[in-house]
Amino acid sequence: MSSEGIATAVLISGSGSNLQAVIDAVARRDLPLDLRLVLSNRAGAFGLERARRAGVAARAELWDRRAGELRGAYDARVLAALRESGAELVLLLGWMHVLPAAIVESFAGVINIHPAYLPEDPAADFVSVPGGPEIPAFRGAHALRDAIAAGVGWAGATCHLVTPAVDRGPVLTREPMRLRPGEGETDALERLHPVEHRVLTEGVARWCASRNAGFSTFSTH
Ligand code: GRF
Repeated sequence: MSSEGIATAVLISGSGSNLQAVIDAVARRDLPLDLRLVLSNRAGAFGLERARRAGVAARAELWDRRAGELRGAYDARVLAALRESGAELVLLLGWMHVLPAAIVESFAGVINIHPAYLPEDPAADFVSVPGGPEIPAFRGAHALRDAIAAGVGWAGATCHLVTPAVDRGPVLTREPMRLRPGEGETDALERLHPVEHRVLTEGVARWCASRNAGFSTFSTH
């Protein structure tokens, strides 16, 4: 990976298709990032392999609950690894743990990709889909499943800054996606992935442009 660009670490847990979108955008020079480290909270995540293939240091960093490791101790290990990487920017691309304020506030930016169309106003609990009705803002770990179960007919993707309030940081980019009648989570997720990849790369590009211009339009602290 290039030694130019904004030093970035990525936190994942699974297939890493969003990570791949970032790796590809960096290779195309569409994103000015220097990918320093990929951490997964799951062993064997395919995203780790994607990182290694791209020449990015990657490893699993697991919370050892069985051995009684306290959550605070795990968070401290994650923070130490991120700091050691020299990252200024941290991307949450499927990471399954809520980040404590101590981590969120340690970096110039922490950005998340979320599989739902969220409102511009982080305090709002409903969102208007373009030309459509107002639907609930689906936050949390099962946003797509919840949207399907609620029968609202819409899903989407949102790239936003992370704050200590989960899924309520300032929106960078977002895009709604109409669900098909009777569509299940697997099919919807397959169609949603390219939407996520587009929204993510555009959102990260906007944050980088703001950062490189020497001001922070998208600051959270
Ligand atoms: C994405 O659906 C993202 O919205 C959510 O976790 C998933 C990660 O997918 N936060 P992938 O590992 O990038 O394919």
